[in-house]
Amino acid sequence: MEGPVNLIDADYLRQALEHDVRAGLTAAPKWLPPKWFYDACGSELFTKITRLPEYYPTRRELAILKAHAREIATVSGAATLVELGSGTSEKTELLLDALASAGTLRTYMPVDVDSVTLKAAADRLSERFEVVGVCADFENHLSQLPQRQGRMVAFLGGTIGNLEPPAREVFFKELRSTLTDGETFLLGADLVKDTSRLIAAYDDSAGVTAAFNRNVLRVINRRLDADFVPADFAHVAIYDTDNDWIEMRLRATKDMVVHVRALDLTVMFAEGEEMRTEISAKFRRSGLTRELAMAGFEVERWYTDPDDDFALVLSRAVPR
Ligand code: SAH
Ligand code: AVI
Repeated sequence: MEGPVNLIDADYLRQALEHDVRAGLTAAPKWLPPKWFYDACGSELFTKITRLPEYYPTRRELAILKAHAREIATVSGAATLVELGSGTSEKTELLLDALASAGTLRTYMPVDVDSVTLKAAADRLSERFEVVGVCADFENHLSQLPQRQGRMVAFLGGTIGNLEPPAREVFFKELRSTLTDGETFLLGADLVKDTSRLIAAYDDSAGVTAAFNRNVLRVINRRLDADFVPADFAHVAIYDTDNDWIEMRLRATKDMVVHVRALDLTVMFAEGEEMRTEISAKFRRSGLTRELAMAGFEVERWYTDPDDDFALVLSRAVPR
């Protein structure tokens, strides 16, 4: 394996986290961005979520990939598979196998903020493929990824839904500007569906999503010397029908004073106060096709599962 590329050194990580935590905890209402869920423990909790009976997206996307990976490989003809927010890269093996069988694959480039999970996945896959792992923030480092020819960029799992709409628009445009005309983009997107199934997927009976949600407090405690008591925050998942997104929040179960010593910041929480930690947007075909078109992507294939729960969208970068 070519040595891993690290665009997130300790200084970057620290500055970005400090910036986000200060901005989010001094805002009204308070919020924290979801990218900080993912230290090694958060990634493990996410993997557990993917195996929960209530959490359908991973199983649906896997089924779609099983059915269509060959066609995706043929249509893309990619020599390089760049995967953003690759995590454990489990589902990706289907795409890698299909691209290898089609005879086009040269390099797999997984990109993730969590260096531990990234390294484990890269080590595992480098036994079978040429792998260049890149530890990077896909909201800030797209233009700095190592250059390769004939790319397909995969963004799986519905992670696109974790970006706020303005950030999503910027992300699509930046991605398009890093691609050459004709290169492809494979996007996994969760679709609008019955609210009760959505709520169950984000508030499972085993409490794994609750632990994942509270993990962001543990990350801030460890990295910024804070004294959050995670158990004093309740997990909340609501579905916002106006915006078509799940919102995860942490609700203070009593009045609290929290110190974030590395920021010299003292934060008050009132009992019942809620802090937003994640949105997970759900999509409709027309809206997502329009958003992609506005950024310079033409949808060539729209794959779903039989229940229309999840979509895998293959689009191509077209001249703007
Ligand atoms: N693609 C995998 C994992 C999804 S979980 C799947 O479909 O199962 C979301 C992944 O995105 C995590 O591995 C997390 O570490 C990563 N991630 C979240 N925000 C990120 C960011 N801003 N830049 C890079 N990776 C990010
Ligand atoms: C990574 N992302 C697509 C997950 C989602 O469904 O929005 C994160 C997650 N949050 C709670 N459960 C899973």
